[in-house]
Amino acid sequence: MAWQTALTELFGIECPVVSAPMGGSAGGVLATAVSRGGGLGMVGGGGSEPDWLERELSLVTAETTRPWGVGFLSWADDVDAVVRALAFRPSAVMLSFGDPKPLAAPVRDAGVPLIVQVTTLAEAEQALDAGADVLVAQGTEAGGHGGGRSVLPFVPAVVDAAGATPVLAAGGIADGRGVAAALCLGAAGALMGTRFQASREALVPAEVLKALVEGGSEDTERSRVLDIARGARWPARYTARTLRNAFLDRWRDREGELAGDTAARAEYRTAVARGEIPAVPVWAGEALDLINDIDSATDIVAQVSAEAAEALTAARRALTAA
Ligand SMILES: Cc1cc2nc3c(=O)[nH]c(=O)nc-3n(C[C@H](O)[C@H](O)[C@H](O)COP(=O)(O)O)c2cc1C
Repeated sequence: MAWQTALTELFGIECPVVSAPMGGSAGGVLATAVSRGGGLGMVGGGGSEPDWLERELSLVTAETTRPWGVGFLSWADDVDAVVRALAFRPSAVMLSFGDPKPLAAPVRDAGVPLIVQVTTLAEAEQALDAGADVLVAQGTEAGGHGGGRSVLPFVPAVVDAAGATPVLAAGGIADGRGVAAALCLGAAGALMGTRFQASREALVPAEVLKALVEGGSEDTERSRVLDIARGARWPARYTARTLRNAFLDRWRDREGELAGDTAARAEYRTAVARGEIPAVPVWAGEALDLINDIDSATDIVAQVSAEAAEALTAARRALTAA
């Protein structure tokens, strides 16, 4: 089917679907697979080592001539990383979490479309001021780090604030019904993370894939506990939605105490070393109920696209019947 939204037009892609730039797991192979499916594949450059990023960006440029992008963390990454990535001529650079202005400058100078992910209306205004070409309105349903707004009311509010700037919906979207809903909210497409994390091309260990398929949405929780335990310096306003584990259960609602307890943090490292909890938290969103298998990302884009068309056709039928 042929899609025409502000997103597909801007990037010359076939489907209104973007994969999230998931640090460490969204490498060049995943980005290529998404772009081959007709979406916009993103490499997760946030917090990465220069060698990792260079290898993954080399992969994507070697494997596809279709549009692809790369993402960074505004609070953590430096301008040099963005400049190095721009040398690979991405079709888009995405910035998330924090003031986008410092990292936006080289992107805008290079004339590359800038996508900024936002978690509040104030961040949406900040992103527009920084010259964002596309906003991603992320709801609290999202896997990984994020804020507290819910997709259903947040996306249209960002659409209203953004004027002519296209908006993507993110958080809790894993199938075509979610993409159709995003379009109905006024978005130009959807950005999906958890669905692509559970794909064949993600750089994810087999046991994490198994946990994603077996886990349900109600097994996920937003918290700072695991960031504090592993010494990650994320700004406190961005909590992380992960699968629950024994450590999180023990320290829930005791973040202040955990931060001051070096023995507890050593205990966390011991539990990781013993294999009792995963070394990297299993970031996963509320879409987990909808994810029951590990497919190729290319197939996921095709399937989501077909389902979205079906969902919109069904909605249209409801109108005809009225
Ligand atoms: C495993 C995982 C890692 C993520 N890492 C990043 C990241 O490095 N940078 C970023 O901008 N967003 C990251 N996110 C958040 C996504 O950009 C996006 O907001 C989220 O995946 C959307 O919700 P969903 O997971 O329900 O699809 C991550 C999400 C997941 C699931």
